[in-house]
Amino acid sequence: MSQPLLSATGIAHSFDTELFSNVDLTLNSAQSIAIVGRSGSGKSTLLHIFSTFIKPDEGTVTLLNKDIYALKDEAVEAVRRFEIGIIFQFHYLFKGMSAMENIEVATMLSGSHIEDALLEKLEIKELMDQKIGELSGGQQQRVSIARVLSKKPRIIFADEPTGNLDKETAELVMDVLLDYVKETGAGLVLVTHDETMSSRCDTRYRLEDKVLREIE
Ligand SMILES: Nc1ncnc2c1ncn2[C@@H]1O[C@H](COP(=O)(O)OP(=O)(O)O)[C@@H](O)[C@H]1O
Ligand SMILES: [Mg+2]
Repeated sequence: MSQPLLSATGIAHSFDTELFSNVDLTLNSAQSIAIVGRSGSGKSTLLHIFSTFIKPDEGTVTLLNKDIYALKDEAVEAVRRFEIGIIFQFHYLFKGMSAMENIEVATMLSGSHIEDALLEKLEIKELMDQKIGELSGGQQQRVSIARVLSKKPRIIFADEPTGNLDKETAELVMDVLLDYVKETGAGLVLVTHDETMSSRCDTRYRLEDKVLREIE
């Protein structure tokens, strides 16, 4: 079998109190993983640890065969720019720019291009010339997802990406993310407290009582 995209072992982290310890997780090509758990259990922190943003107190994170917390800054920057895509509940789009310009910023930086088929699937193709400020929250979220997927990341980290969306739009976003994973062989780590969304992933974990357990 090929190398995993992500392999985390023995992860422990505390802020004021211990959030979790002994966390192990492996993400393979074309696999989708959901992590569920109550608010405050440490899901976002764990996602930040997996995705280069928080060095854990203990443990190792290997992303695409690189021990990410042993890398130099430039190498981490390259991983963020070319290899991973991060989707948050609250997007970070440039309000005064059009939807198209927002996506172009990302594709220019990563040297990729925008695919019409993706815009059509997300039902935002007709909105590309509009300013972000003129779009609804759900439309903005879909633009931010198009921006991330246009980079062609090998791993997607998504933190409550459907949290602010109506059910129909949330399903559409999940369709697009899961299709991307199956078509490109990328991996997805999705944090959600929505059971419907988590049940669509290949593997599910629950973060509870400071432990990450696979849900059978
Ligand atoms: N940078 C930080 N500094 C101090 N405490 C933090 C920080 N980030 C998160 N926490 C705390 O860690 C706990 C878990 O937060 P978080 O990972 O956001 O949980 P979740 O995403 O499951 O709701 C919370 O109690 C939160 O206040
Ligand atoms: Mg969170």
